[in-house]
Amino acid sequence: MQGPTPLQGTVRMAGAKNSALKLMAAALMVPGEVILERAPRITDVELMADVLRRLGATVERDGDTLTIDSSGDLQEETPYELVRKMRASIQVLGPLLARLGRARVSMPGGDAIGSRPIDLHLGGLERMGVKFTSQHGYIEGVVQRLKGTRVLLEFPSVGATENLLMAAVLAEGTTVIENAAREPEIQDLATFFQACGARVSGAGTPTIEIEGVEELSPTRHRIIPDRIEAGTFAIGAVASRGDVTLEDMEPIHIELPLQKLEEAGAEVRRSADSVRVRMSSRPRAIDLVTLPYPGFPTDLQPMMMVTLAQAAGSSILTENVFEARFLFVDELNRMGSHIRVEGHHAVIRGVERLSSAPVQVPDIRAGAALVLSGVCAEGVTEVYDGGHIERGYEDFVGKLGSLGADVEVRD
Ligand code: UD1
Repeated sequence: MQGPTPLQGTVRMAGAKNSALKLMAAALMVPGEVILERAPRITDVELMADVLRRLGATVERDGDTLTIDSSGDLQEETPYELVRKMRASIQVLGPLLARLGRARVSMPGGDAIGSRPIDLHLGGLERMGVKFTSQHGYIEGVVQRLKGTRVLLEFPSVGATENLLMAAVLAEGTTVIENAAREPEIQDLATFFQACGARVSGAGTPTIEIEGVEELSPTRHRIIPDRIEAGTFAIGAVASRGDVTLEDMEPIHIELPLQKLEEAGAEVRRSADSVRVRMSSRPRAIDLVTLPYPGFPTDLQPMMMVTLAQAAGSSILTENVFEARFLFVDELNRMGSHIRVEGHHAVIRGVERLSSAPVQVPDIRAGAALVLSGVCAEGVTEVYDGGHIERGYEDFVGKLGSLGADVEVRD
């Protein structure tokens, strides 16, 4: 791609990847047709569809709508060949235990963003009565009937909160999840379950209470808009000194990122379901800390790094969620940025302009950030292994092109 180009225009947001994947897993618990609207057209959704099919469900797509039918007999095993491609496959653990009383899931590998254990998922499920054994790279769980209990999470893990919520919905008695993650995707999952007849309260707060029911009934659900996609384009507008309007989104879901962009000098106009972000000058340096929601999302940290790399002054960016999320800094420094990583802090000395270089994509979010840096840099940037980006962004290149970026995909 050829830069620098200010991103300008209007772009519409897709459904949230991180909601879609969990809602698809949750559909395994519903005997009948679950219809999910606004399902993003991304590779990870296709991978999750493969996982569900392997387990015995049918999954069909018609435009942006997915229809999932899990009324047939389900299998208990999710093999390595699928889990290794996408860590979120581990989210079928709770649903399978709830539906079948047993599950066999390959230990996850997944993104190159640090060691990502699942001890909190397993510890919570054990408290609900599941007996786990692990052998040959697989975890096997067995339970007669899941029992409601009180689980205090050591860290508000998104995936662990979701797996426990899913298991609890069909458990006997009441489950209380304390120090639960508060991400909007968890609220979306709870809204879906409520429509299926589940009894869930407190989603979006640190304490979620779930009263188990005997059975769930099919429903139609519209997936929330993708806040990380929205944040990526909002930050892209600032990094490229452009003017972008995001449509079909929830401004409140990216409130902190928007505030940080304002602190860096952007003009932000919020309305009910859209936001306009304008930047006419070089960004100011700011300090930033990633934290679980409603803190600044770790998934937007790489894009913010690209912005601050071009800021007037020095910034400190602290990563508190995934320790290896700074791995892509070496790539960015090849484009002329001055970033020094010390443990989980990055010290960023802003430069006037980035300069193009060939770079390698390690994961979805760093990939989007490296493409944005190519949009901002002088000259032609080649981004290798860009396929990672399609795992999480619907038509990223097309949307950037519609905002004026000169980007082209080559095989
Ligand atoms: C989800 C998102 C991901 C996002 C992350 C944090 C999906 C598919 N992915 O990932 O995009 O970056 O939330 O917002 O929704 N941890 C443990 N033990 C566990 C579970 C997690 O130590 O059992 C640690 C992880 O190593 C990590 C931190 O907790 O350091 C956060 O992980 P978690 O919130 O679980 O993220 P994911 O659900 O994997």
